[in-house]
Amino acid sequence: MEAILSRHSVRDFKDGEITDGTLEKLLHAGMAAPSAMHSSPWHFIAVTERGRLDGIAGIHPYANMSLKASAGILVCGEPEREALEEFFDQNCAAAVENILIAASDLKLGAVWVGIYPNGTHVEKFTKYFNLPKNIVPFAWIPMGQPRTPAKEDNRFDSSRVHFNSW
Ligand SMILES: Cc1cc2nc3c(=O)[nH]c(=O)nc-3n(C[C@H](O)[C@H](O)[C@H](O)COP(=O)(O)O)c2cc1C
Repeated sequence: MEAILSRHSVRDFKDGEITDGTLEKLLHAGMAAPSAMHSSPWHFIAVTERGRLDGIAGIHPYANMSLKASAGILVCGEPEREALEEFFDQNCAAAVENILIAASDLKLGAVWVGIYPNGTHVEKFTKYFNLPKNIVPFAWIPMGQPRTPAKEDNRFDSSRVHFNSW
């Protein structure tokens, strides 16, 4: 609960390495997500090279925080891996959220930068990462050491909760 309630989008990072071990933990979290019929239709590109991170600010209008990020994970989907192709984006979204919660638990800052279903973003990330035709870039998650510590937030709204029927 603490990792979930203190998760916030972090777009300002201090210098600091994200080790391969940390990236591996985050990837474990991503792959632990639920998926329709257990299709697990995801692929992940872990990005640590400065030049690769910086270039993302040039291909997405809301991804400037990549310039300060120490690493990032591109979550991709492979719709053909699904018996039910129409669920591929929901499955990928579950993986993204798992990674964000794991990052919060590790006291890292991270943010979900949306790619799919925007056609221009999909095209630009496909080209930038040289993705095969059957792979769809879904979301970009830049990450790093947060400049300010996370605080828990109470967003509970009882007016949005309905019991047994609307
Ligand atoms: C589908 C999706 C796309 C998003 N795209 C961006 C984005 O392109 N750039 C960005 O800075 N934040 C992006 N966000 C983060 C949201 O702005 C953020 O989650 C929202 O403002 C709530 O704030 P919080 O994450 O701190 O709770 C995206 C979030 C989602 C779920």
